[in-house]
Amino acid sequence: HEISWTLEMAEKAGYPHFMLKEIYEQPRALKDAIHGNREIIKGVAEEIANYDRIIFVAMGTSYHAALVGKYLFQRLAKKVPIVEEASEFRYEFEDLIDDKTLVIAITQSGETADTLAAMKLAKRKGAKVLGIVNVVGSMATRIADLTLYTHAGPEIGVAATKTYTTQLTVLTMLAIELAKVLGTASEDYLKKLENELMKVPELVELALKHDNAIRELADVLKDKRDFFYIGRGISVPTALEGALKLKEISYIHAEGLSAGELKHGPLALLEDGVPVVAINPSGKVFDKMVSNIEEAKARGAMIISLSDREELSRVSDVLIKMPRVDELLSPIVYVVPLQLLAYHLAVLRGNDPDKPRNLAKSVTVE
Ligand code: G6P
Repeated sequence: HEISWTLEMAEKAGYPHFMLKEIYEQPRALKDAIHGNREIIKGVAEEIANYDRIIFVAMGTSYHAALVGKYLFQRLAKKVPIVEEASEFRYEFEDLIDDKTLVIAITQSGETADTLAAMKLAKRKGAKVLGIVNVVGSMATRIADLTLYTHAGPEIGVAATKTYTTQLTVLTMLAIELAKVLGTASEDYLKKLENELMKVPELVELALKHDNAIRELADVLKDKRDFFYIGRGISVPTALEGALKLKEISYIHAEGLSAGELKHGPLALLEDGVPVVAINPSGKVFDKMVSNIEEAKARGAMIISLSDREELSRVSDVLIKMPRVDELLSPIVYVVPLQLLAYHLAVLRGNDPDKPRNLAKSVTVE
């Protein structure tokens, strides 16, 4: 179904910037993503269930969504996809794709040149192409064999926010349906996940309540020069996305990495007061993360933790208390404070978060 977007709908609606408006629109956007796909997701899952060679292609924030998709497909559907930047895929995978390959292209705009080229290449080689796209009727939807829309509504801010969390929502729904079709996860667990996904918009609402506290935190952090974002497992892409948001709009150098890599280099960069943002929801790797946080803390880093577990305040300078959520759904909720942090830092540093220097909303040249 098509939704027509009016100019008026696209206005700032009282918010100082589109980006903040779009961050706040997420609970609504997530509901639309869920309801907009509920009827059709099963058919799509059935069509792709038999593919074993699955390659996600995307760029930027959509690439981070693809990384989350990989964890979801692994955990729920027991499939091991490859995730490639579309710009790399084009040159490296030419001889590796055939009619047994499924390419899942994630693109908000549906117009990113590298992603479109990757999709065209995949089609030429006979692969099945599924697009996960926000803009209705965009080029990507014309190339793809199948399209799932994210239903986020128009996103004006250059930094992707609601289009990212809706991409994650669609990927979660798809992984759940795949698991149902393939019988790769227990029915009880899948039911529980589905029910919890319906509550994620409310959990995002709760995460948004940290807005004032995060603005105050941003005031403390605004002159810092380097940030590190760490996570493990399905929180690794959240760390990458938090760092990307910061770079894009506040122009502060940031690195996102898996916490296991800290010891293999980045630890050498930590000294007194360097902010380390640790994404640590309850789950498989919670305790492992605590030891990584302790390592960083011992080097004098300023630890900003995001977690549902109060006990983290022991090793943190700041704890952003998150609602309890299944680990597999946590990327949707945990990215929200990171979007707000990047936003407030950008504003405090005098930048226009909607129009970061040197960047474009959609990169239509290769
Ligand atoms: C640009 C935008 C990013 C976006 C990326 C991919 O770099 O500034 O926000 O994530 O393109 O865009 P797409 O439309 O393909 O998701």
